Parts: sequence; C-alpha cells; structure tokens
Amino acid sequence: MFFDRPNSGECAVLVHLNLASESEREDPREFEELVLSAGGDPVAFVMGTRDTPHPRTFVGSGKLQEIMDEVQLHDAQIVMFNHSLSPSQERNLEQELQCRVLDRTGLILDIFAQRARTHEGKLQVELAQLQHMATRLVRGWTHLERQKGGIGVRGGPGETQLESDRRLLRARIKSITARLDKVRKQRDQGRRSRRRAEIPTVSLVGYTNAGKSTLFNHLTESTVYVADQLFATLDPTLRRLELENVGPIILADTVGFIAHLPHKLVEAFKATLEETLNADLLLHVIDAASDERDDNIYQVQDVLAEIGAEDIPRLQVFNKLDLLQQAPRIDRNEQGLPERVWLSAATGAGTGLLLQAISELVGVDMVAEELHLEPDQGSLRAALYRLGAVETENYSDDGVAHLSVRLPRADWNRLMKKGPEPLF
Ligand code: GTP
Repeated sequence: MFFDRPNSGECAVLVHLNLASESEREDPREFEELVLSAGGDPVAFVMGTRDTPHPRTFVGSGKLQEIMDEVQLHDAQIVMFNHSLSPSQERNLEQELQCRVLDRTGLILDIFAQRARTHEGKLQVELAQLQHMATRLVRGWTHLERQKGGIGVRGGPGETQLESDRRLLRARIKSITARLDKVRKQRDQGRRSRRRAEIPTVSLVGYTNAGKSTLFNHLTESTVYVADQLFATLDPTLRRLELENVGPIILADTVGFIAHLPHKLVEAFKATLEETLNADLLLHVIDAASDERDDNIYQVQDVLAEIGAEDIPRLQVFNKLDLLQQAPRIDRNEQGLPERVWLSAATGAGTGLLLQAISELVGVDMVAEELHLEPDQGSLRAALYRLGAVETENYSDDGVAHLSVRLPRADWNRLMKKGPEPLF
C-alpha cells in the first residue's frame, strides 16, 4: 500500500490564522518547516486574524478570496492549513478553491508516512491515514483530474476507486489492526526478554530537531538516519551500550515531539511512546540554542505526562552547546544527583559527562552485601572481581572467603540467576 513519492515540490499555499479563541497557538515558522519536510514548495503564506473559525470554511469570505487569488497566481496544487479542519470544512474549502486542501493533521501524517521505516511504523501510519481518511472520503476536488498522489495522499491508502469505498476501507482498517496486534505481541516478547535480562533501558525523548539522532549516533557510533528535517526519526531504534560501572544498557531513540500533537496521532504512534514508558531513565534532549527552548521543554513534559511517563526518572540534556559557546557541565540537584547535562552532540563535547550522569542515575540502585563463599564457589568470586564489585575480602581458617561487595542490582540479579547460591 505504500507508494513511492510520486510528486515532490508541489506548489503549496500556506494558511495560518491567529485565532483569539485558541489558547495554544501553532507557530507559523514551524509550519513552514513541516511543509518543507513534507517536500512541499511554499509559494505564498496567507495570514490573518479571527475571533473564531468560520464554521463552513474556517476562514471568512475575504480571506478565502485572498487564498483563491494566490492559488491562481501561482497555479498551486495544494492549500495547507496550520490548523485542524473538520471534514466538512475541508470539503467546502476544496469546492470553493477547486484545489486540494490539507490540514495540519494530514500534513503530520504525510511526514510520518515518509519517515516510517519499520514494518510496525508503516502499519501504524497507514492505519492513522485510513482513519483520518475514513471521515473525509468525499473530496471536493475529485471531479478534477484524477489524483495520482502528492502530499497527504501518498504513503498510505491513496485516492483510488477502491479506497473510495467505505466498506473496503473498514475491512482494510480491521486487517491492519489485526496485523499490528500481532507485531506488537512479538515486540512485547522482545521487551520481556530484555526485562528478564535486567538490562536497563534509557530512552531519548525530545522536541523534533533537538538533536536526538545525532546524540544517539554519537553514543552508539551507529548510523541512524540524521537529517535537518523535522521527524527524521520515526520508529524506536534500539542499541546496546556498555557503561563503565553499570554494564550494558539499551539506548532507545524515539520520534520527535511536536506542539499539540493531535491526540489521535499520539494513539497512532503508541508503540514508539510505549518504548518510552518502559524506560528506566528518560534523556530529555533540548535544543539549548533555540528561541523556543522553554516552550518546547513544556510541550515535551506535557506529552510525557499525557502518556503516563511523568514518574520515570529524567535527565535533561541541553544540546547544541557549541552554538552558545559554553563549556560542558553537569548541574546537580539537592541530593547531588545529576539533573541537567550541557553538551554538544555534534562536536561530542560533554558526551563523556552524559555517560557519567547516566551511570550515576542508572547505577543508583546498588546492592551492598556481605558474602561468605565456599572454596568451590570460585567462579562466582571471579565474576565479582571481574565486575569490580569486591570492596574487601578475607579468609577464615575453614577456607571460606568473606567478601563485602557493592554492585548494580542488575548485575547482582544476573549473578544470582546463574548460581550456585552463595552462603550468607
Ligand atoms: P527528529 O528526528 O526530527 O525528532 O530530530 P532529532 O531530535 O533526532 O534531531 P537530529 O539529530 O536529526 O538533529 C537535527 C539537526 O540539529 C541536524 O541538522 C543536526 O546536525 C543538528 N545538531 C544536532 N546536534 C547538534 C549540536 O550539538 N550542535 C549543532 N550546532 N547542531 C546540532
């Protein structure tokens, strides 16, 4: 069901209204970046102010004429709104403008469709697109030339005869939901075996473009796709890292957050977010040099609260420090634990401090024990030495070794599983 991008650089007229009734305003500059990310070519930006949206066409008649003029002047193929439109508003606008109209949700879905890499991610995007489309089957422009693709109608169901049949659409939604359930079960099993192995998971979260993939790459020396585009990452990407004093951890890269992500999209990308929910530590990556820095921090915190991740220990990572020309550092809380790390993922400055902070936070759950090992428990003793866990050791006359050990709980649990049981 996924088509190649048939049509890039569609001429797009953008529309953004400042609505007195909207407490949360979308940012017009971010909107333009989203359009560029989708491969659109913004040729005109129509802005305006209204108290409330017009119920029929979202904009008033004067503004509608202005948009129409721009569409004709530039021979634009699409009009994109930086707002959520109701299906009927979208339809009415398409009829009036004789041109395709896409709202913000459709635009974000289009970007997700381009970025989906794993099987699960693709299924999720397709499901979200089908659900979004199910309410919008009757398009105002379909009597115009047959649509071959383009922003908002590619990467998913497409606008063909088949998909315009609601019954088939429902069947397709059902089959994708079933496939997704299966994929999720398989993934859960993977996660359970990781849990069983007691390997702590650290998830990178943050506003889109904050530098998560760059940092992920730097930390893992892996080759995750990095691009100066919004949403360069969609599917959870996992890598194993070895940390000094802690042992292995799983590092997970996740999709970038954006302002006011429509709730149904939060649902659609649940897998990515579930990965976040299972983390032992969240690294909240922040573009320290962004004008929107504080706002973006709140947006991410809001979404994390919304998905129930507010209780997971969190470390703020202020990235792009090279642009501020400051030295890397760790800020600590009253208990002396790391709270913020300032670094540059691009230059690598400060990433050592980050690893140190992660070690402190993940390794914070240490086990201190007094062990008494029989002579035949030499392999356990050797393992404890290998982990650097032995603080003191002395022998009694009967050959029993008395050890004080201190080690991360994850290592301790692993050793105890292996047996043989030490004598306490
Ligand atoms: P999404 O996938 O959209 O969520 O983005 P992301 O948070 O993964 O950001 P990504 O790593 O793709 O970086 C976004 C842009 O910021 C890229 O152009 C990076 O080169 C740039 N960047 C990342 N880290 C730094 C840094 O430390 N300094 C500077 N100057 N640029 C950086």
